[in-house]
Amino acid sequence: MFALKDLVDTLREQSLQNNKNHEIEWEFAEETVPFDEAAFDKMQSDLLSFLVTENFPATMEKEDLVIELVATQVEKLNGGKFQDFLKILDANLGEEYLRIEGKKWKSHKLKEMKEEGLVYIELINQHSSETIGFLSMKLVFDNEVLCVYLYEIQLLKEYTGLKIGSELMRHFHKLPGLINIGLEANEDRPLDDEDDDMDDADKSEITDLRNEKEKERIDFLKNYGKVEGCSLTVFTKNERALKFYQGLGYIKADHSPRDKKLRNVRVVKPDYYIMFNYL
Ligand SMILES: CC(C)(COP(=O)(O)OP(=O)(O)OC[C@H]1O[C@@H](n2cnc3c(N)ncnc32)[C@H](O)[C@@H]1OP(=O)(O)O)[C@@H](O)C(=O)NCCC(=O)NCCS
Repeated sequence: MFALKDLVDTLREQSLQNNKNHEIEWEFAEETVPFDEAAFDKMQSDLLSFLVTENFPATMEKEDLVIELVATQVEKLNGGKFQDFLKILDANLGEEYLRIEGKKWKSHKLKEMKEEGLVYIELINQHSSETIGFLSMKLVFDNEVLCVYLYEIQLLKEYTGLKIGSELMRHFHKLPGLINIGLEANEDRPLDDEDDDMDDADKSEITDLRNEKEKERIDFLKNYGKVEGCSLTVFTKNERALKFYQGLGYIKADHSPRDKKLRNVRVVKPDYYIMFNYL
């Protein structure tokens, strides 16, 4: 069980330290409310998948390549998809996973990939219908700070270096702000194309309904405080990805494993760093 009071106290302490206004609903500070993880996971996943669908483009073009983006909540993904994603992961980082976690790394990874509340974006080459990469993410408390955690961003090798990753991250970084501004972000949201033949009364009814649903989700999440930014884990040996994230403004999180200097000469690096981007 998670005591909300502890969370609020920690956030308040951090807020004082950082001299930031977290806009926390302080009336919760006196209550100890058990943290309902299942309800939280469901609400954040519905909200995140909604925001991803609305704010990431449906397709991205790079030279003569057209990439389709398909957002799906983890419970709606079939087993074959997980295997496709695992193959990409294996090709990119399999050796490092094997070194760190041993022979069972794939079954550990599959379990993590099926974690409740995750939202996936599959990247498909529209011409060949091949899955060329994926992202997975979730709104979590990491070290008691609310953030959108990027579990994975993986592109097949032949699709790297084309600025696809940079463009995906640009959209990803909008998510904390969109969650924080909540309903305001939805006010001018246009209806889907297929709604075009409806008359205005029907349209406004649907807009109201959709806003009601978003309001419910935002109201629920509001009780947990403000989203501080984005976070992720990167292997220390993955210098390319490390450079990529540093270029995007990520810094080592306070609770990240650190380099250790032995006898003031040799530096021993941890297997991974936890990176944070305050947005
Ligand atoms: C990491 C990854 C998502 C980056 O996406 P990308 O589309 O390849 O990257 P971009 O083309 O947008 O390049 C952005 C920056 O990444 C770095 N980068 C890209 N290609 C690089 C290369 N071949 N060597 C070193 N750095 C490189 C550079 O800093 C580059 O910025 P610059 O072009 O201004 O120098 C992608 O390369 C990937 O999926 N790699 C394999 C899986 C992986 O490591 N995922 C991260 C797990 S934590």
